[in-house]
Amino acid sequence: MSRVAVVTGGASGLGLSICEHLARNGHRVGVLDLEIGAAEKAAADLRAKGAEAVAVAADVSDREAVDKALDEVRSAFGPLGILVTSAGVSGFVPFQELTAEVWARTLAVNLTGTFHCVQSAIPDMVEAGWGRVVTISSAAGQTGALRQVHYSASKGGVIAMTKTLALEYAAKGITVNTIPPFTADTPLMRSMQESKYLPPAEVLARMVPAGRLGTGDDIGAMCAFLCSDEAGYVTGQVIGVNGGAVT
Ligand SMILES: NC(=O)c1ccc[n+]([C@@H]2O[C@H](COP(=O)([O-])OP(=O)(O)OC[C@H]3O[C@@H](n4cnc5c(N)ncnc54)[C@H](O)[C@@H]3O)[C@@H](O)[C@H]2O)c1
Repeated sequence: MSRVAVVTGGASGLGLSICEHLARNGHRVGVLDLEIGAAEKAAADLRAKGAEAVAVAADVSDREAVDKALDEVRSAFGPLGILVTSAGVSGFVPFQELTAEVWARTLAVNLTGTFHCVQSAIPDMVEAGWGRVVTISSAAGQTGALRQVHYSASKGGVIAMTKTLALEYAAKGITVNTIPPFTADTPLMRSMQESKYLPPAEVLARMVPAGRLGTGDDIGAMCAFLCSDEAGYVTGQVIGVNGGAVT
């Protein structure tokens, strides 16, 4: 069945792959991103492959902008049935050098941004008695990560928020799950490698029992399943798609 999906951070990396997988399953996709040019290109590429897609601009930390962007998707396609929150920022800073500004911005985008998007989208799902929410968290939120107190805290918050939302909405036909990637080859990961905060791909791959980095398709395929009718009894789960790196 075709649903209306919004993917935040849908213009790049994991979000972009998730858009492709949802579109391939017949869903109409709202590509939400801070970078509207990249979102428009992503939506145009999806349309060129026969999908229905629209690009909308928002900084997920800005509630008014999120509400406006989701209304644009509703105007184009109708009420929302699927929300995937992939928009995120990352960084590596030793704890004593971590400024309050970087802490606040990381929490504002990764954690509060997720809150804004879910709260803005979920009334449609409650109304329909059907909904799928998938948050993209991080292995850093499960295990902690060196020089990433801010990032790990934000993603740990996303995991706790996901579990709690799942409890609140389970009886309303809405599932809420999280995928916490370990390392997936995306522009974000490559930028961290270029700035030497992350080791090269071959070194990272040795940290993964499966012997390779994750891909957008690895995450996109699981996300599409979690957004399907068949996944209706899966909720409140932390679904690692990580080659065995975190068990
Ligand atoms: N790639 C990995 O190895 C990895 C590992 C763990 C977790 N993650 C998480 O996966 C998600 C996607 O990461 P990615 O690797 O695809 O990164 P990416 O940088 O390729 O894509 C992130 C997208 O989010 C958008 N974005 C950033 N801030 C935004 C904001 N305030 N409002 C709206 N859009 C915003 C960016 O413009 C970009 O298009 C992130 O939440 C990240 O923390 C990624």
